[in-house]
Order: sequence, then C-alpha cells, then structure tokens
Amino acid sequence: MIQQTVPTIQNGQLIVVEHLVKIYRLGEVDVHALRGVSVSIDRGEFVAIMGASGSGKSTFMNILGCLDTSTKGKYFLEGIDVGSLTRDELAMIRNKKIGFVFQGFNLLSRTSALENVELPLLYSTVSNNERYQRAVEALKRVGLEGRLHHYPNQLSGGQQQRVAIARALVNDPSIILADEPTGNLDSRTSVEVMEIFQQLNDQGITVVLVTHEPDIAQFAKRQIVFRDGKIRSDKPTPQRKRAAEVLKDLPVIDDEEEEAA
Ligand SMILES: Nc1ncnc2c1ncn2[C@@H]1O[C@H](COP(=O)(O)OP(=O)(O)O)[C@@H](O)[C@H]1O
Ligand SMILES: [Mg+2]
Repeated sequence: MIQQTVPTIQNGQLIVVEHLVKIYRLGEVDVHALRGVSVSIDRGEFVAIMGASGSGKSTFMNILGCLDTSTKGKYFLEGIDVGSLTRDELAMIRNKKIGFVFQGFNLLSRTSALENVELPLLYSTVSNNERYQRAVEALKRVGLEGRLHHYPNQLSGGQQQRVAIARALVNDPSIILADEPTGNLDSRTSVEVMEIFQQLNDQGITVVLVTHEPDIAQFAKRQIVFRDGKIRSDKPTPQRKRAAEVLKDLPVIDDEEEEAA
C-alpha cells in the first residue's frame, strides 16, 4: 500500500506547507530557490517574512499566492491541496481567496482609483451596481473615500498603495499577501500603510508581508526569517508595535496641500 502523507488540517489553519522545494531551471543551471520549507499559518495571523535578497521570499509568496507552483512538496490552502488543482481552479482560488499587494502598486495609470479597485470584479457575476458599492466600500476601508475619481498620478505614493490594498480587499479574501509593500515609500508613509494592515488584521484578515526592514517587521505578530531557501527562524514579535502609536512621534510631511494646488 502506498502511504500518503496528507496532514490533518486543524481548525484555524489557513496555510500548511510541507517540504516545499522550488528549483528554477536556467539553461543548464538549476537555481534552488526553496530547499524544503515547512510552516503553517493560522487564520488571523500577521506574519512578516524577512531575509536577505535572494533568500527565497518572493518565490515563497508566489507559491502561497498560487501564482506559481512548487517543484516538490505540498501546499494546503484552507485544506485544499493546491498541487492537485488545474490552471483554471488555481485562477479561481487566487481570485476568491487571495489579495495581492506589490512594491510597485501595479495600478492601471489611465484608470481612476475606483475603476482600479473594481477590476478584480469585472470577470465575476457581480452586477455593476454591486461592483461599484463594493469598490467604494473597499476604498473607505483604506480611508480614500475622498479620492474615488483620482488617477494614480494624482495620488501620493502612500495613497496609491492604499488603492492597491483596496483592490486586494474587494473580493473579500481570506488572506492578503504583500511583497515589500513599503519598499517604495518614505518612512512615515510606510508606517501609515502598516497602520492599515494592522487595522485589517484586527478585523480578522490574515496578513503575510515580505519586508527586509526590521522597523516594518515589528508591526507584525510573527517573524519568519529565510536564509538560502530555508527558514532560519520563526518567532513571535517581541513587544509588537502599534503603527498608530508610532505615528504620533513621526513628523507629518503634508503633501495634501501640494496636491490640492
Ligand atoms: N524566475 C526565476 N528564474 C530563475 N531564478 C529565479 C527566478 N526567480 C527567482 N530566482 C532565483 O531564486 C532565488 C530566490 O529568489 P527570490 O525568491 O526572488 O528571493 P527574495 O525575494 O528573497 O529576494 C534567487 O537566487 C533568484 O535569483
Ligand atoms: Mg523578493
């Protein structure tokens, strides 16, 4: 009899990965991006993924986000064996369960904040009216109800990233995956964006965020450090900081006036 190693998914476990290996083939060379990663993440967690450049963070996130598949190992998302899905099923899971936020915001430039947030709903069965309502609601959640019809180039970097977060929220995902979301932002704006992630996490959304900055990781509840494609450490954040508190001590750089001008 063939023995299968299917883990028992326990209550609350959102993500379970086991012995994840990713090998990129570059011509004759094999690049071992992940060398056996096992970890589980529960619903409601806020995890910072850290580690030097090239340590496998983005590869790991792309697999979690069903944007890529592993070479070996298992990935269960809400108990679903992701490795057994077809391309269409993967796309469906990605759309329904996962919200992405990237370093470069990835907004469509000739499209308003509202339309950018409506995008993930365009190919669903949602009516025009509901699509509008949900996009407005998502923009409210990130504090941008006053910017619905602004184009990306009329918004500050932090506001653009908040539009991207609203877009990630509009499908009501189980998890938000953010790869270096503050990488293009100044320090105060970075903390403001972390405040939004903390608020969303307080409301029950699971957040997994890549950063190489310890100052950003301190807002997460748990810190996983990668090295050479493996997990080097995995610990709760000692004395986790609240972004709202940190903001009180940071100088305000007022760019709202300039924008209005
Ligand atoms: N598409 C790819 N093809 C080949 N090698 C890749 C590809 N993506 C990443 N790598 C390699 O895999 C390793 C891990 O990369 P990555 O996951 O992007 O690390 P990080 O996000 O921690 O900087 C690096 O050595 C990188 O060069
Ligand atoms: Mg990366």
